[in-house]
Amino acid sequence: MTVEEYKSKIEAALEKYFLMGDEFPQAKLGEAMRYSLMAGGKRIRPMLVLEFCRISGGDVELALPVACAIEMLHTYSLIHDDLPCMDDDELRRGRPTNHVVYGECTAVLAGDTLQAEAFGAILRSRLPAESRAKCAEILAGAAGIDGMCGGQYLDMSWEGRELSEQELTEINSRKTGALLVAACQMGVAAAGGNKLMMEAAGHFGAALGMAFQIRDDMLDVLSTNEELGKPVGSDERENKNTYMVLMGKEGCEKTIAKLTQFAKDILKEAFDDTDFLCSLADSLANRNK
Ligand code: IPE
Ligand code: IPE
Ligand code: MG
Ligand code: MG
Ligand code: MG
Repeated sequence: MTVEEYKSKIEAALEKYFLMGDEFPQAKLGEAMRYSLMAGGKRIRPMLVLEFCRISGGDVELALPVACAIEMLHTYSLIHDDLPCMDDDELRRGRPTNHVVYGECTAVLAGDTLQAEAFGAILRSRLPAESRAKCAEILAGAAGIDGMCGGQYLDMSWEGRELSEQELTEINSRKTGALLVAACQMGVAAAGGNKLMMEAAGHFGAALGMAFQIRDDMLDVLSTNEELGKPVGSDERENKNTYMVLMGKEGCEKTIAKLTQFAKDILKEAFDDTDFLCSLADSLANRNK
């Protein structure tokens, strides 16, 4: 499958969630969840789930709810990341942020609900019980105190002071890396893949995730609101520690190239059919949005 084919498959699957008629008193909450979930986005994480499932010998159709789940969880992280008490941003995926449209209370709840529904989607899927449990366990770890939320906490509490490269890595491997690792590993788990595949998926996801956040930091400085669909300059305004601050544009470019090469090499140790993921890694290294 191509990136575009995966994307339309994912969009079509996501489209079916949280459709509520006006007769439901909480219909507006469903609308707020769909507002952010269906606003576009690159759909990288669900794509990784599906492709890792495929190259691990699994059934991509059965893994679709798992792919939707990680996109729900990721969307929740974006809604909360944009809140006034966090990064205080007003543009996301080319639209006004969730709290700007629906208010802070509903935005908080839209995020909370997307997180709970992500686990529901996995547990209600038609995958074997063992795969469902494994996927849920992986996602819980990646979202929790050692994962995205833990990383967001460090990102916030270490604002405004100079960090070492190790500290910055500590933040980013959690706030961004953990969900990318989980996406790759949930694909393997959905397919019932072996330990070697699981480890390679983990290393690939970690390297890709690090490169991904470095590129994100670069674009926050070098891109435009229009192209990025979210506000540039947000990091400087919030006194964030970023790779741009730590190593500058050229240092970032070099590190991304190194991490991308490492990611591609490691895949080949466990999988035969790596063309799609290698070209995805290359395109993410040079992405402009
Ligand atoms: C943005 O993620 C937040 C980070 C973890 C850097 P993406 O760049 O994947 O955002 P979308 O899903 O395409 O909107
Ligand atoms: C946050 O990183 C990653 C998340 C867990 C959402 P950023 O704060 O840099 O993400 P953007 O740039 O707002 O997408
Ligand atoms: Mg942030
Ligand atoms: Mg942000
Ligand atoms: Mg950013």
